[in-house]
Order: sequence, then structure tokens, then C-alpha cells
Amino acid sequence: MTLQEAKDKLEKYGQMHVLKYYDELSAAEQEALLAQIDETDFDVLKNAKNLGKGSERGAFEPLAAMQLSEIEAKKDEFTKIGTEAIKQGKVAACLLAGGMGTRLGSDDPKGMYNIGLTKEVYIFQRIIENLLDVVKATDSWIHLFIMTSEKNHEKTVKFLTEKNFFGYKADKITFFKQDMAPASDYEGKVYMEEKGRISTSPNGNAGWFSSMLKAGLDETLHAEGIEWINIFAVDNVLQRICDPCFVGATIANGAEVGAKVVKKNAPNEGVGVMCLEDGRPSIVEYYELTQEMMDAKDEAGDPAYNYGVILNYLFNEPALERIAKKELPLHVVEKKIPYIDENANLIKPEKPNGCKFEQLVLDMIHELDSCLPYEVVREKEFAPIKNKTGIDSVESARELCKKNGIEL
Ligand code: UTP
Repeated sequence: MTLQEAKDKLEKYGQMHVLKYYDELSAAEQEALLAQIDETDFDVLKNAKNLGKGSERGAFEPLAAMQLSEIEAKKDEFTKIGTEAIKQGKVAACLLAGGMGTRLGSDDPKGMYNIGLTKEVYIFQRIIENLLDVVKATDSWIHLFIMTSEKNHEKTVKFLTEKNFFGYKADKITFFKQDMAPASDYEGKVYMEEKGRISTSPNGNAGWFSSMLKAGLDETLHAEGIEWINIFAVDNVLQRICDPCFVGATIANGAEVGAKVVKKNAPNEGVGVMCLEDGRPSIVEYYELTQEMMDAKDEAGDPAYNYGVILNYLFNEPALERIAKKELPLHVVEKKIPYIDENANLIKPEKPNGCKFEQLVLDMIHELDSCLPYEVVREKEFAPIKNKTGIDSVESARELCKKNGIEL
């Protein structure tokens, strides 16, 4: 893109301040900035005015989960189906590690965090060890895709390479980078993180499949005959990944997506709940639950909206390709965004100062025809690390690891 074209584009979106330091930049920096202006979708910024206004939702109904008792009764059948699919190479894993992990407050990627007490136990290590359990049980390597972002890619790849991928087979790991979205103030003016760089952040946890396609990885998926992709968050150090029983249950039920869920510990717990929205699978956020919904009971007299999602889903690959062209809604999230001030000093704000624009997995699920919520034992499979201390923290995850016999 030429300087004139960049000016025209910025003018159109009211973002001319992006070029404030252009003349001071080196030729290489100028080129990089023009390229960034060219690839940035400034259209998303108009959504800044929607901050705090939840998107319009349809009519909610409960969606029954497959509960532990049913899973236990059919465990052998499901495990056989899942193991077969894994052995045939039809199942891949995809680690979502593109997030910024701001709440944990470490400068390194979240997965590099050491939760060990007497020895080193990294978050990445816990996850890979969990997946290795399945590799051993099925005697089959599972292709592990790792999504990073341009903010943490180099560090992530370097760290995992140095650690020899914690025993995972190197040629069974593929990294790809997530797309970025610009970050702005509350008026929708983009922040600059350097004189020659617009502030950006990863485009949300639903960015993974479009980013995979952009990286040309659909060719790999087709060439290897991958039919199912188990996506999972980087920060749950106890979760089971590609576990054969879950894979088998999802396949046996003919569902386009399987969603691991845990029983909520209180009606108003801060987790999203699997449900139907206008008859299609969806997730209702905890703050959207009305008192009536919290009081609703299922046939057995248990709370009808009782199962929270843990960001561990098994997606049917052809179904993902079918919905890939659909535009997902954008969610405006208030965040702390580092920026340079009028004197070009880098400021790392203590409080939220603007908006990021994200696409969320719940909207992907809503595009699919069917979903199987699959219950897992909370104390055994859910130890998320969002913060250093308190709820969902390094401390609480350590406690849960100890209870599960994991040495730290
Ligand atoms: P979170 O919603 O907890 O966000 O991500 P985060 O960025 O890790 O942490 P905070 O909110 O800044 O403290 C849940 C999972 O989704 C991934 C994260 O890496 C994590 O595994 N994620 C999130 C992405 O891969 N990309 C994104 O754009 C957002």
C-alpha cells in the first residue's frame, strides 16, 4: 500500500493520528506500518459504541447434558468408538494459546508459567502430559495444533522447542498464528503501541478456525483425514484432551460438536451454560440467566441450567468448513491496552482504558445443528488458571493438582 492509499483509508475511518510519527520512522518501519494499515480491518472500530450493550439474544431453553451415570453405563462402548477414531487418525487436538493472559500478569505466554513447588511444572507441560496419556492408551500420535498470536509466537515456539515439547513428537505439532484485531479507546480511535505500530490484540477464542484456514492448514486436515478437532484452553491444567470416551460419545450421538461441561457449584456461578437459543445450541452467559432460569428444574427435579462450559470442545471438521464463511458477531470487551501517549512514552494502564474486539466460540456453536454437552467430574478435570491468587488461580489449581495425585 502506498502512503497516499494509507492516508485515504485512514481518512475514511477517522484514524489519521496513526501517521503522526510517520516521518520519523526508518524506511523499514514505514513499510511495516503501511502493511499493517493495509491489513487492518478498521470497520470493527465502529462497534466501540456498543460496549456494555449485550448483543440481542433469542429465546432460551435448557439443553440436557449427558450425565456421569449415563457415561459410566456406556463407557466401554464410547471408549471403543473413540479409540478407533483416534487410531484411524481422525482426531486432532488444537490448543488455544493466543490469549494475552492479562489477569495472570506474566510477561511470558501463559503456558510458560511454572506452577511447580518443589520442581518445575509448566502449564504447557501439564497439558502435553495429559495428551500423552491418550497417545499411550491408544498407541497413536494425535496431531497437536498450537495457536499462538503474533504477540507470543516466538516465545512459545522457542520455549517448547527448548523443552523438547515435553516428550511430544515434534512432527506431530503444528503452530499457527491467530488473526489480530485493532484495539481502541472508547471512541473507537485506535491506540498506537509504538510510533510505527497500531495496538492490536488476538481476535477472540473463535478466531482459531478461520486462522487455521488462513494458514492453509485445511490441506493438512484433508490430507490426514482429520474429522474431529478437540479445541481446549491453555489454562486448565487438569483437563483431559481427546479422551476416547468423550470422542466416542460425541460420534455415537451424531452431534456436530461435543462440549465438556461441569456441574455448577452455585446457580449464579460465573460460567457460561450450555442451552438452546431459538432451538439451536448455544451458551447463555451467567449474567444473562434470569431468576426464572436459575429456578427452572429438569424432569429429575435438578436445576435445568446446571452445566457450565470449560472451553473444551470436539468439533466436527466438515461442519466447521460448512459454517466457515458465516460472519460471526463481534463482542466488544473492555480491557487494559498499552499505548504511547502524546509524548510517545509507553503507558501500561492500571485500569481498563478501551476496547478490544473479539469473536467467541459460543457464536460458532450457535451456527451448528447439534451439540452434546458431556459432563466431566469437576474436581478431576477443571482447574483453570486465570489469576495468581483466589478463585481460578495458580493457588486453587495447585490444590486440585495435589488432590489428583500430581506432584508439584
Ligand atoms: P481467556 O478468556 O481466559 O483470555 O482465554 P486470556 O487472554 O487467556 O486471559 P485474560 O482474559 O487476558 O486474563 C481462554 C482461552 O482462550 C485462548 C486463551 O489463550 C485461553 O486458552 N484465547 C483467548 C485465544 O487463544 N485467543 C484469544 O483471542 C482469546
